Amino acid sequence: MADTVWQQLIALRDRQRALRAESPFVVRGADLPWETNPQGVMKWYLHPATERSCHKALIFSVQKIPPRSQSGKQHCQGGVVHYVMEGKGRTIINDAAYEWEAGDVVQLPLLPEGVTYQHFNDDPSRDAVLTACLPNFSEPLGIDRGAGLFQLEAAPQFSGAFESEADDLAALRARLAAESGKAIEVKVDAPQTTYDRNYARTQEIQQRSRTGKVVVRRADRKEEMTRQGRLRYYLNRTVLHDTVLKDWNVFTHELRTRSGKHRHQGGLVIYVIEGKGYTVCDGQRLDWERGDLILLPIQPGGVEHQHFNLNGDTPSFWMAYIYKPFHDEVAHGMEQREDAPEFKGE
Ligand SMILES: [Fe+2]
Repeated sequence: MADTVWQQLIALRDRQRALRAESPFVVRGADLPWETNPQGVMKWYLHPATERSCHKALIFSVQKIPPRSQSGKQHCQGGVVHYVMEGKGRTIINDAAYEWEAGDVVQLPLLPEGVTYQHFNDDPSRDAVLTACLPNFSEPLGIDRGAGLFQLEAAPQFSGAFESEADDLAALRARLAAESGKAIEVKVDAPQTTYDRNYARTQEIQQRSRTGKVVVRRADRKEEMTRQGRLRYYLNRTVLHDTVLKDWNVFTHELRTRSGKHRHQGGLVIYVIEGKGYTVCDGQRLDWERGDLILLPIQPGGVEHQHFNLNGDTPSFWMAYIYKPFHDEVAHGMEQREDAPEFKGE
């Protein structure tokens, strides 16, 4: 049977619908193996090759770095949001050191030349644990994206065969260096044309990527009692413009009893930092505990959800990661259906 291209599209839709219908909304951290690879000791929750998943908008992993050790060294495009779950240390990004400790968010900026980075655990006795989240552009943009992915050094824990790709990166840099210095001067202080306004805006975005905050500390941001619950925004596309990455909403939720109830489109992930509880998604109860990843599906009408704490008198904490350009493409809207019990505002 000679399929039309249209038929292939419908067949792909049907395969995706079938896979998504039988996919879990919670990925259990306890069920995932630790993998030792050249970048280090990692668990993968969501990966481009993950088949059974209710969405594939993001890539999500957790990395454990032993005391006084380090990750592998890698060169990539950037655009990664790390959260420090445990420990303290630093990340070297393009030769600059950024110190961090538990509760901090560490971003890899998006730079045209890419970022060369490596994490170091400076603590003599404790593991450092970092989560990493980035949008899954592996199909449309390729794993390389613009700047290329190169593994430059292996983590000390990796004992397999490893050949550094540093020479490949050096060759690429030499080729790019030969292309530099050819730009003419463009004055964009008072742009007269749409082209020049666009030129100026492009420069502003790159300026933010080079000078914005890389590390956002917990103390940098206030916890707010919102109608959805106690939220602390580390990154917010609409409100917070001081960070290197500009398109994320990343926030923690301190859950004491229950959250508000609202409905919006999914395509995001929620990582459980502490405690245990459950989320009611369109009437279905999903239990979770520390180390689990909750996925909210993308579906017509979005998903109604409310979170409940089961950690006794101790609050549970989770962190949501929303890459907002994806929300734009599903015409994300918010509908509040119930306020959190502690919310007193109007
Ligand atoms: Fe929500």
